[in-house]
Amino acid sequence: LEPVYPMPKISYVNGRFINHRDAFVHIEDRGYQFADGVYEVIAIHNGLVLDEEQHMERLARSLASLRIDAPVSDASLKLIIQELLRRNKCQEGAIYLQITRGVAKRNHEFPKNVRPSLVMTLSKTPERHSMNNRTVGTAISLPDIRWERCDIKSISLLPNILAKQQAVEGKHTDAILVNDEGYVTEGSATNVYMVDSKGTILTHPANHSILGGITRDSVLKVARRNGLKVEERRFTLKELQNAREMFITSTTKGVMPIGMLDGKKIADGKTGPVTTQLQSLYDDYVEQKFNEAVA
Ligand code: PDD
Repeated sequence: LEPVYPMPKISYVNGRFINHRDAFVHIEDRGYQFADGVYEVIAIHNGLVLDEEQHMERLARSLASLRIDAPVSDASLKLIIQELLRRNKCQEGAIYLQITRGVAKRNHEFPKNVRPSLVMTLSKTPERHSMNNRTVGTAISLPDIRWERCDIKSISLLPNILAKQQAVEGKHTDAILVNDEGYVTEGSATNVYMVDSKGTILTHPANHSILGGITRDSVLKVARRNGLKVEERRFTLKELQNAREMFITSTTKGVMPIGMLDGKKIADGKTGPVTTQLQSLYDDYVEQKFNEAVA
């Protein structure tokens, strides 16, 4: 089937750069059979691979947690990324990188002597833009029905896609996941934050219950560096409903304000001052990274 949306011309599959329409892995790939694999989404901004090192480190942690061997070294991964950007003439967009345990006859236990599969695709965006999604989004809350190792960036995302689909069907930006005890963990593909009545930024600690976002790390770092109060502690759905501000972060959305939750406004429903400041701090952070890279 020909995809109906614009696709990058060249993708990477197990050692080869090939036309995207010919980019296949075998039906016995463990990713296809068991979702037995991990991934990363990395932003490309002005030709810069943003926070590449942090993505490499998280990828290594995900692989180690699932006992999948890295198919190539970090240095090779970086070269492949550069080559993919070059072949696609890409300055702006995102890389999708996926590693699965490899191709083997379907058996639950790990196959022996199998080489992990590595694929990369590129989503190009036409022009340079802010990393932040500045439109005010809306969200719904849903039960977090995922497993207890959400820190692993696994391609096993059924609960996430079901939650996101429900959000999108209601014309919402994202679904906010709430655990059995009433605590907000994260979004379907984002980290979630609130600003409390004292102006403190709260977000779930980076433990096994959430994916430790690379954007989360950067945003918290620049927030602290600029004297904003940050507390990595859990907050309840009730606290979130009464928040002064709410926002989400991810590689693809940057810092994005959320003005409505489950049909009720968060404060006045507009982007709050802390969120606005974080957006500009995050833009500065990205700009500085770029300047360091070209220097
Ligand atoms: N999602 N939490 C979850 C469950 C995620 O899937 C993501 C990223 C994040 C934010 O992480 P980061 O800041 O490193 O992008 C948090 C990616 C973008 C995706 O699945 O497309």
